[in-house]
Amino acid sequence: VICAGFGHGLSLLAPVLRDAGAGTVAMEDPCLPVHRTLIAGHGLAVAPLPVDDAGARTDRLDAIGAGAVIVTPAHQYPTGVTLQPGRRAALVVWARREGACVIEDDYDGEFRFDRQPVGAVQGLAPDQVVYAGTVSKTLAPGVRLGWLVLPPRLVDPVVAMNGMARGGWTPPVLEQLTLAELIVTGRFDAHLRRLRAAYRARRDTLLAALADLPGARPRGIAAGLHLLVLLPRRATTEAGIRARAEARGIALAYLGPHRHRRGDHRPGVVIGFARPPASRFDRSVREAVDVLRSALAGQPAQLP
Ligand SMILES: Cc1ncc(COP(=O)(O)O)c(C=O)c1O
Repeated sequence: VICAGFGHGLSLLAPVLRDAGAGTVAMEDPCLPVHRTLIAGHGLAVAPLPVDDAGARTDRLDAIGAGAVIVTPAHQYPTGVTLQPGRRAALVVWARREGACVIEDDYDGEFRFDRQPVGAVQGLAPDQVVYAGTVSKTLAPGVRLGWLVLPPRLVDPVVAMNGMARGGWTPPVLEQLTLAELIVTGRFDAHLRRLRAAYRARRDTLLAALADLPGARPRGIAAGLHLLVLLPRRATTEAGIRARAEARGIALAYLGPHRHRRGDHRPGVVIGFARPPASRFDRSVREAVDVLRSALAGQPAQLP
């Protein structure tokens, strides 16, 4: 089913899963906050599924008792870890046993820098796993095009959920035909290869700049268009970094809002590196790293 990006796909799936009796949806902790809001807005309970260095803690699923789980196996958002093979298998075993649905959000799977792309979990259990893709990272978030590869039993309900009787809305056909043309002619592949090299170079520039920063631990660097920088626990706060960044007109994201519950955790900054134009990229990286450095040193926010 073609949809207007992952967010739209999720807004079609959520009521279908609710009507099928899902009740609770397990979501990675941390995860993108807007997806939690979306799920809760459809009357489903959201349960946190902790994430560690091997990805989502699939061993917790039994205790949660969810009817569905949303995961980002290729490159967990925002920590960037890849779901390890044993946990992929466990996820599928759980879903089959419980008759539960796994939603695989593959939002940036095209950009893997250090090794071959990671296989989709969906391939292990197409009857239990919804594979969701988007062009938000490969073309632009504003294009609003994505796709759901659905277990057969979900196709009709999801299509019906998007039907005209429910105010249904499909992505513009011209954009769909244009994307199809790019794929069929091989130009989409060529575009991805070019972007992969460009984003790898950007990531390397950012990593080199972060290497000088005392105590900073970049995470999730093997793929994607962002990385997470964990900072020493008592050295600074996310609010302190945000004040400095905003004073210099720099937009960063922070780990705290991605967590299900606020609490005492290591400060973390999510730095996206796709956005600045090439002509400003080095300067943007320097400015972002300066912000972190001054926050770590406890210096006052500086205007540019
Ligand atoms: C975790 C995650 N999923 C999905 C998406 C893409 O969402 P959409 O296709 O609705 O733009 C993003 C984009 O930032 C994301 O971070």
